[in-house]
Amino acid sequence: MREIENKEEMRELIGEWRRAGDDVALVPTMGNLHVGHLHLINVAREHADRVVVSIFVNPTQFGEDEDYEKYPRTIEKDKLQLKRVKTDALFMPDVETIYPFGTDSATSVTVPVLTEEFCGSFRPGHFDGVTTVVSRLFSLVQPEVAVFGEKDFQQLLIVKRLVEDLSLPIKVISAETQREKDGLAISSRNQYLSEEERKKAPELYSVLQSMRSEILNDADHFGELEKNAVFDLERIGFAPEYVSIRKADDLGEPEPGERRLVILAAVYLGETRLIDNVTINL
Ligand code: PAF
Repeated sequence: MREIENKEEMRELIGEWRRAGDDVALVPTMGNLHVGHLHLINVAREHADRVVVSIFVNPTQFGEDEDYEKYPRTIEKDKLQLKRVKTDALFMPDVETIYPFGTDSATSVTVPVLTEEFCGSFRPGHFDGVTTVVSRLFSLVQPEVAVFGEKDFQQLLIVKRLVEDLSLPIKVISAETQREKDGLAISSRNQYLSEEERKKAPELYSVLQSMRSEILNDADHFGELEKNAVFDLERIGFAPEYVSIRKADDLGEPEPGERRLVILAAVYLGETRLIDNVTINL
C-alpha cells in the first residue's frame, strides 16, 4: 500500500495507473476505520482496478460545539486494517493540502435544499463542509468511482446530486449499512456508548424496522407512524431529533402511491448522537 501525503505524489501515481489502463475508486473516510469502512473498500474493489482510501478529519464539517479536536485519530491501527483488505493507496493529506488558503477563505461548494432538513437542520453548515471536502478530494484524486455508505443516507444523496449537478465524470456507488449482530448500525460513535446505552442502542433499528413492516402492510398514515416512533424511542430512553418517512430518491414528502421510501432517524442516547435509516420498495 502506497502511503501518500502530498497532492503531487497522488497525481503522479494516478497518472501512472491511468497510463497502464487502470481505473480508480476513491473511498473517502475520516479514519478510525471499522467494519463499515472495510465494506466500502470491498465494494470499491468490485468496481475499479485501483482503490484509494483517503483519511482526512475534515474541520469544515464540524460545528463549533462538535468534536473536531476530540475526533479519534487512529492512523496506525487504520493502516493495519487497510493492508488486510488490500488498498492500493492511502491518501492522508493535511489541512494545508486540502485548504491551501485556510478554511475561512476556502472556496465552498453548497448543494441547496437537500442539505437543509434532517441532519442539515440540526448540524448547520455540516453538509457544506462535506460537499466542499468531497469536491476537493474528487479533484485531487480524480477517481472514476467513489463509494459512500448508505448509513449516511442524506450525505449519499447529497454527494450524488453534487456529482450529477456539476456533471462530474464519477460514478457514485452506495454500500449497504453494516450492522452488529443485534442490528445496531456500525459507526465510530458506538464506542462512546456506555455499557447500558450499548444495550439499548439496537432498539433504534428495531423501531425503524417495525415502521417498515407497517408500511409494507399498507399503513399510509405516515405522520402518525412518525409520531408513534418518536414516542416509542423516548420511552426506551432515546432523545430523538427526527424520525421521518420520505421519498428515497430526493427526501421529498411522499405522495400517495410513492413506491420508494426511506425512513430516516437521528437520536441522542446520552451524549452520543446515532443515525440510522431503512429503505422500503413497495
Ligand atoms: O462520511 C464521512 O466519513 C465524511 O463525511 C466524508 C464523506 C469522508 C467527508 O469528510
